Amino acid sequence: MSKIKYSKYPLVYPLPAALVGAIVDNKVNYETLGDCGIVSVYPPVLYISSNKSHHTNKGILKNKCFSVNIPSVDLLDKVDYCGIVTGKKVDKSNVFKIYYGNNKDIPLIEECPINIACKVKETIDIYNMKVFFGDIIETYVNENCFTDGHIDTLKINPLIYCMDNLYWTIGKSVGKGFNSGKNYNDIIKNMDRR
Ligand SMILES: Cc1cc2nc3c(=O)[nH]c(=O)nc-3n(C[C@H](O)[C@H](O)[C@H](O)COP(=O)(O)O)c2cc1C
Repeated sequence: MSKIKYSKYPLVYPLPAALVGAIVDNKVNYETLGDCGIVSVYPPVLYISSNKSHHTNKGILKNKCFSVNIPSVDLLDKVDYCGIVTGKKVDKSNVFKIYYGNNKDIPLIEECPINIACKVKETIDIYNMKVFFGDIIETYVNENCFTDGHIDTLKINPLIYCMDNLYWTIGKSVGKGFNSGKNYNDIIKNMDRR
């Protein structure tokens, strides 16, 4: 396979389109982030990377907490909107319905099937970005997104944002984690026996 040397672009596929919520100047504000991910499962920690100029950061820095909400595909237009306009100029507080868990400084988005409430554990500056590491203090999942007691990814129907600047939907499952690798392990063992 011949390879094309491409620009130094962070082509990490795919990314979730996440809505980060915070209270800024007594008003709920949201921003859309592609750069959000898991740092640790046990204990549960995630990160978000938000440009230093963003309005949402002001609230996160003040209250030391934020929410990460995973939208379904049906919220596409609202998700993109929150990534186009800034709370500095436009009031985004009515875009979604809000509810609260135990922490009244962390607005959670009712319409999103997954809501994660975080307390800032650490903040670091990287070039133009503020990277917030959040201890997950509460997670809520829509009751109708479970099948046989497990979260059903197809029912969550997350919006995927890729480095081609397109939104995608999730496809079919093709294997099971910590399992499919056993097939390869078996092949290697059989080769060793020869
Ligand atoms: C699909 C999409 C992904 C985005 N991902 C990021 C991101 O990872 N980091 C970031 O700083 N801004 C990202 N943005 C831009 C912010 O969402 C945007 O600047 C927003 O207006 C900031 O809102 P605020 O100023 O009210 O906080 C993204 C926008 C879109 C549409």
